[in-house]
Amino acid sequence: MKIMLTGGRGMLGRTLTSVLKTSHEVLVTDYPEADITDYFSISKAISCCRPDVVIHCAAKTQVDLCETEVVSAYNLNAYGAANVARACFEHSVKLIAISTDYVFSGENPGHAWREDDIATGGNTVYGQSKFLGEKMIMGLCPDALICRLAWLYGAGGPSFVHSILKLADGSRPQLKVVNDQIGNPTSCLAVAKHMRILIEHPELKGICHLTCEGEASWYDFAREICRINGVNQDIVPCSTAEFPRPAPRPAFSCLDNALLREHDLPPMPHWKKALENFFIRGFVW
Ligand SMILES: NC(=O)c1ccc[n+]([C@@H]2O[C@H](COP(=O)([O-])OP(=O)(O)OC[C@H]3O[C@@H](n4cnc5c(N)ncnc54)[C@H](OP(=O)(O)O)[C@@H]3O)[C@@H](O)[C@H]2O)c1
Repeated sequence: MKIMLTGGRGMLGRTLTSVLKTSHEVLVTDYPEADITDYFSISKAISCCRPDVVIHCAAKTQVDLCETEVVSAYNLNAYGAANVARACFEHSVKLIAISTDYVFSGENPGHAWREDDIATGGNTVYGQSKFLGEKMIMGLCPDALICRLAWLYGAGGPSFVHSILKLADGSRPQLKVVNDQIGNPTSCLAVAKHMRILIEHPELKGICHLTCEGEASWYDFAREICRINGVNQDIVPCSTAEFPRPAPRPAFSCLDNALLREHDLPPMPHWKKALENFFIRGFVW
């Protein structure tokens, strides 16, 4: 199969490339040669590559920066996604678009958020712009599959894993890490392996949650990163209020991969197992 990536030189794109190229032809595109904010640029890239599937990874992912660079956030995450969706529809190409847990409000509904729970875009410009992108994709390319990921880390970063390993370099007696935000740490490697399965099921469409199993706080995640690497760092739990950020992070953004279960597809690995596997197979600074 021919798979074209947008934003293919980003963190997820690099891992998708290395995993998918073992069994498929992968065509990596990125800015500026395939600019998602320009419909003609992306349409031309698709007509030149003639892919069977486009995996749309390109986005403005700096959550705090999106709060001040609002126009650019919407241009990329909403209207850019719409350009990709329109081009895929017009060229009759299957679209798998990547979205995020930040489309949810952050309140705890009493269960991990399922695909059929109502998203609102949450309280950040990043989440709202990605949510508008989801709606535009569904309107313009009804057969698209939108995969929501969360708390992502992958080779080369930047990611929480990379930040913690840098901070836990022995120079700090204590490291304070937020313990009142709960989510699903998710490995790009695990996502890429599941992507191999999803592209074999072109009938899948709509929303698909694709996060590693198990819930964790950033504090739990930091402790596990250090434990696996034998790093002896004192890590102290703290509250979100102690670390205010420009974009208010959701307190609860765990996703339930219900669609995978409904279609009898293999579950994603547990986040602790995926993290160990990442350090064995995928870690690069
Ligand atoms: N990282 C996370 O924790 C996380 C969590 C949930 C969901 N996601 C979603 O996962 C996807 C991939 O995220 P990631 O972490 O791999 O992001 P990333 O590393 O920031 O990669 C995004 C890529 O898009 C490129 N790009 C920027 N502007 C573009 C344009 N106009 N046209 C084409 N490409 C452009 C970027 O290039 P430059 O680097 O040159 O700007 C970069 O290569 C995104 O949709 C994101 O919303 C990420």
